[in-house]
Amino acid sequence: MTREVKSVAVLGGGTMGLGIAAASADAGANVLLLDVTLAAAEASFERMKNIRPPAFEDPASADRITLGGFDTDLAKISDYDWICEAIVEDVTVKRELFEKLEPLRRDGSVISTNTSGIPLKDITEGMPIRLRKDIVVTHFFNPVKIMRLMELIPGEDTTKDVTDALADFCANKLGKGVVYAKDTVNFIGNRIGCFFMLSGLHKARAAVQSGMSMEQVDALLSKPVGLPPTGLYGLIDLIGLDIMDLVGKNLEANLPASDVGRGFTSFPPEEQAMLDRKQLGRKTKGGFYRLNIAEDGTKTKEIFDLKTEDWRVAEKFALDAVHQNSEDVFFSDDAEGKLVWDIMGGTLLYAADLVPQISDDVVNIDRAMRWGFGWGKGPFELLDQLNPSKVIAKLEAAGQELPAMLKTLKESGAESFYRNEGTEYLALDGSWVAVPAE
Ligand SMILES: NC(=O)c1ccc[n+]([C@@H]2O[C@H](COP(=O)([O-])OP(=O)(O)OC[C@H]3O[C@@H](n4cnc5c(N)ncnc54)[C@H](O)[C@@H]3O)[C@@H](O)[C@H]2O)c1
Repeated sequence: MTREVKSVAVLGGGTMGLGIAAASADAGANVLLLDVTLAAAEASFERMKNIRPPAFEDPASADRITLGGFDTDLAKISDYDWICEAIVEDVTVKRELFEKLEPLRRDGSVISTNTSGIPLKDITEGMPIRLRKDIVVTHFFNPVKIMRLMELIPGEDTTKDVTDALADFCANKLGKGVVYAKDTVNFIGNRIGCFFMLSGLHKARAAVQSGMSMEQVDALLSKPVGLPPTGLYGLIDLIGLDIMDLVGKNLEANLPASDVGRGFTSFPPEEQAMLDRKQLGRKTKGGFYRLNIAEDGTKTKEIFDLKTEDWRVAEKFALDAVHQNSEDVFFSDDAEGKLVWDIMGGTLLYAADLVPQISDDVVNIDRAMRWGFGWGKGPFELLDQLNPSKVIAKLEAAGQELPAMLKTLKESGAESFYRNEGTEYLALDGSWVAVPAE
C-alpha cells in the first residue's frame, strides 16, 4: 500500500505544534489544529501569527488552518492523513490521547508523536496493532520553520509505507532534512550533541581550574573543530541549564549500562550551583555569559568565570595558527590540543561507537549533526578530514580500544568513511554503499 500525506491534524498547539501546523499550511496542506479546548487552540493560532521568528513563510497560509478542542472536535481527525501529536512530554498524557484518538482516525492515516525523550515503545505498549503499525516519532527541532533536521524513528511494528509517507511529506513538502534514527534515548542529534555538552563541562573544568580561560575553551571548540561560534559554554547558554539538567536525568534513566555517557549525566559543582540559583542562560539573561547594560547604555559582554565563580569582562580570545587548524589542533601535544582531543575527539569516538545502536550507518549520524547542531562536518566526515589512520594510531599508542566504526575501517582496510567524492560510505560490514540523496 502506498500512502500519501496531503492533510495534517496537529494535536497540541504549543511551541512545536504551532510550528508544525504553520509549516504544513505553508506547504499547501489543510491543517486541523486541536488543543485542550477551542480557546487554547485560538490562543495558539494568535501566537502562531505573531511569533518571532515567524512561523509562516506566507501569512496567507493561516487560512488553511481550522481550529478545535480535544473536548469537542477530536472526531474531526477522521478527515486527515497525518495525525501529528505534539502535546506535553508526559507518557501517561500522550497514551491517554492515543487511546482516545485511535478509534476515530481513518484507515490509511499515519500517526506521529513528537517526543524528545520518551521511547516510542513506552508510548505504544499494549496499544492496538493498527496504531503500532501506523506510528513513528517525528523529532522536529525548534523553531520548526528554521531548523532543517527532522529525525524519523519507526517503532518495531511500524510498516515501511508509513515511514515513506512521512519522509516524503517532511522532505519534499516541508523541506526538512530527514534522518532515520532508532528508538533509543535522545535519538541521534541530542545523544551526540548532549554528550559533547555534558562531557565538555566536566572535561573543560580541569583546564579552566588550571588557568585556561573559558573564552579560550569556546574559541577552541568552535571554528577550529568545525562547530558554530557558540563553542561549549555559549551553546549551553542558548539551550539553558534547566533543559540540560532534564536531558541529563533522562540519560541517567535510559542510557545503556555500559555507555560512556553515564559518567556525565549530572553537572560539575559550579554548574550545579548555577542551576540552583537559576542562572540558566540566555532565558534568564545570564548563564556563562551575560550582556551588562550600564546606566548610560554602554553594553559590556561579561563572563561568569568558573574558577572564581564571579562575573568579569569577557575577552575576545585570538587563537594562534596551530590551534586554528583541525588537522593540527587535534594532535597538538599542549593544553589546547589535549582539551580538543579530550572533548571533541571524545565526542567523535563516542559517535563512532554508536553504529548500529542509534543509526544503521554513518550518513544519518553525519547529517543529524550538520542539520541539527550546525556542525560544519558530521563526526565521520571530520574523522576523514583528520585522517582515520592517524586517529587509530593515537588510540592504539594510548592502549585504547577502537570504537566500532574505526574497528570496521581498520579491519576492512579502508582509509576513510567516505570515498569517490563522498558518493559512497563505509557500512558496518566493511562494504561500500551509495550515499542516498539529501
Ligand atoms: N520545544 C522543543 O524544543 C521541543 C523539541 C523537540 C521535541 N519536543 C517535544 O514536543 C512535544 C511538545 O513540546 P512543546 O515544546 O511544543 O510543548 P509546549 O509546552 O509548548 O506545548 C504543550 C502542548 O500540550 C498541551 N497540553 C498541556 N497539557 C495537556 C494535557 N493534559 N493533555 C493534552 N494536551 C496538553 C498544551 O496545551 C500545549 O498545546 C513534547 O513532547 C516535547 O518534548 C519539544
